[in-house]
Amino acid sequence: MRASPAHCWTILSLTPCEAEELQRHKRCKILRYHRFRLTYEKPILNLFLVQPHLELNPRASLMSIPSISEVTTQQSILENRKILIVDDEEPIRRLLGYLLEPHGYQVTLAGEAREARQRMEDGYYAMVLCDVNMPGESGMDLVRHILTQYPNTAVIMITGLDSPVLANAALDMGAFGYIIKPFEANEVLINVANALRRRKLEIENAMHRENLEEVVRTRTIALQQALEWLERSEKELRLSREETIQRLAIAAEYRDSSTAQHIQRMSHYCELLARRYGLSPDRCDLIRTASPMHDIGKIGTPDHVLLKPGKFTPEEFKVITQHTEIGYRILAGSDSDLLKVAALIAWTHHERYDGTGYPRGIKGNEIPLEGRITAIADNFDALTTQRVYKPAYDFDHAKELMLKERGKHFDPDLLDIFFDSMADIKRIFDQFADPSWLSSSRHRAITQDQGEAV
Ligand SMILES: [Fe+2]
Ligand SMILES: [Fe+2]
Repeated sequence: MRASPAHCWTILSLTPCEAEELQRHKRCKILRYHRFRLTYEKPILNLFLVQPHLELNPRASLMSIPSISEVTTQQSILENRKILIVDDEEPIRRLLGYLLEPHGYQVTLAGEAREARQRMEDGYYAMVLCDVNMPGESGMDLVRHILTQYPNTAVIMITGLDSPVLANAALDMGAFGYIIKPFEANEVLINVANALRRRKLEIENAMHRENLEEVVRTRTIALQQALEWLERSEKELRLSREETIQRLAIAAEYRDSSTAQHIQRMSHYCELLARRYGLSPDRCDLIRTASPMHDIGKIGTPDHVLLKPGKFTPEEFKVITQHTEIGYRILAGSDSDLLKVAALIAWTHHERYDGTGYPRGIKGNEIPLEGRITAIADNFDALTTQRVYKPAYDFDHAKELMLKERGKHFDPDLLDIFFDSMADIKRIFDQFADPSWLSSSRHRAITQDQGEAV
């Protein structure tokens, strides 16, 4: 049967294979199925409305012209080519199947939404071609279900309703296309190919996003682990540094009457007072860490002076006072904030608020805050712990003695703040109590005035 001249329609009665071959005819984008549902005796699938572009016999042209299917196949990369066709009209279902199968698509047919749902449960489909108006559940509801439950399945609506509203609703819902019956074979093939291409890109994009997210997630975890490791290392380094400082300080003080617990208590008293005074946490921590070195200069004090029983002569006391400047010279000159503060404390912890202290006799706020703080902490601990020249005084008595020196030996404001913190002082005192076995035999007085720390 010959096709009609260009722009004219004719009906060809073709076998499905012939129809398939014809629709591949590149220059005859001509194939149009029409719903001949009336009284034809032959299966209506064999009736096609054809509109060739050229005055060609479609049958004669079939062998010489590249097919659309080749292009389609080349462009389609998706491995899954399973397509579910859902339409209550069997002829349309079968026609669509005949259109698609020759192009490498694996087609499954379903006559209603319920059957389609079952098919979807039984196997994965790359695409669903779905009619809109069907008995029972509508195509729109089915599509909504598919797009929700099978997000990687592309959907194209095929309907006899040429409604922009419906088309927009379908597209808004996530459908990839909307084909109106009667449709051209090429229209279907191109829509399917484009939808599958878009689906492929979307899946690839999603996978790329997931990969990126996974990379970000993995690197975030690695970064967190690195930060945790750094924090642990920093903490270990800080603890190690503090312990080294404390042990050096203990080594210096061990020649004298002090104990490791004295170092702990007085440094925590210093931190407590600095915190209550309102210094920053970092500064408080620095003072706590640096204050154990306040008597490091005793390393330079000769044994015959440092270990002498009883009171010192004025000359001996002058030698003793040099531990402040020796400590300062040992610690000063560093770029380290810790050593700078430690040097300042070592130099000034025996200065008195009224200017009668040593080594320089500075007074009031000329005495660095760290020195004034340490003076209070060091003396309170000396008073409240046992020494060879004195018993341990209770807190009230120690407070009474120190308040007598308010504004003389000690900064009055700092002293008030300190004694406003008795609960915390008691907690520190208990936490770092001297061991019970510690006798007073190792302790001795090295002060001019009993009860005053040196
Ligand atoms: Fe001390
Ligand atoms: Fe001292």
